[in-house]
Amino acid sequence: MAIRLGDEAPNFTADTTDGPIDFHQWLGDSWGILFSHPADFTPVCTTELGGFAKRKAEFDQRNTKLIAVSVDPVESHDRWKGDIADVSGSALNFPIIGDEGRTVAGLYDMIHPNASDTTTVRSVFIIGPDKKVKLTLTYPASTGRNVDEILRVLDSLQLSAAYPVATPLDWRPGEDVIVGAKLTDAEATERFPKGFTTVKPYLRYTPQPNQ
Ligand code: BEZ
Repeated sequence: MAIRLGDEAPNFTADTTDGPIDFHQWLGDSWGILFSHPADFTPVCTTELGGFAKRKAEFDQRNTKLIAVSVDPVESHDRWKGDIADVSGSALNFPIIGDEGRTVAGLYDMIHPNASDTTTVRSVFIIGPDKKVKLTLTYPASTGRNVDEILRVLDSLQLSAAYPVATPLDWRPGEDVIVGAKLTDAEATERFPKGFTTVKPYLRYTPQPNQ
């Protein structure tokens, strides 16, 4: 059964490169990003794991933990770490789950048999501190993910969790945001002291409220 936005992120226990975890306990009060890759010692995956490791500080700043998963065992992930560091210049600094029993892959529907019936696709799940799924993305094995886009959507999710706002097409942090549709103009005036601009009655922009 596919996981939908707003569902509770399934909990599991697993072995990882940082030792055994209970997923919900490991998340604690943080946001979390669980992402799968098809296989260790493959080119796109090596660039991805290294790319996320290199930019982990940007996820830390957003109170967000990273955790990767594939159906390879922890022993394979451990051997692969050296290549990730060689290629990216950054040591692996977050856990990778060894999911050879496919427990996590099954819970999160990460194996798409018409793509590959033996390996996980490139799934991304962003999970909030309430353990609810806030975003899902699925890429094929041939396309590496984009860290900038994942940080951008994380910023949007965290902003709309804190304020009654949405973010428009191609929004980048610092740009104006959209006043939540449920707010009346009077409520928007009270909520957003910097004011707002009405383009259509249903499209009102206000400066990013936490800047
Ligand atoms: C890769 O990471 O390059 C890859 C992994 C599995 C299938 C195809 C490509």
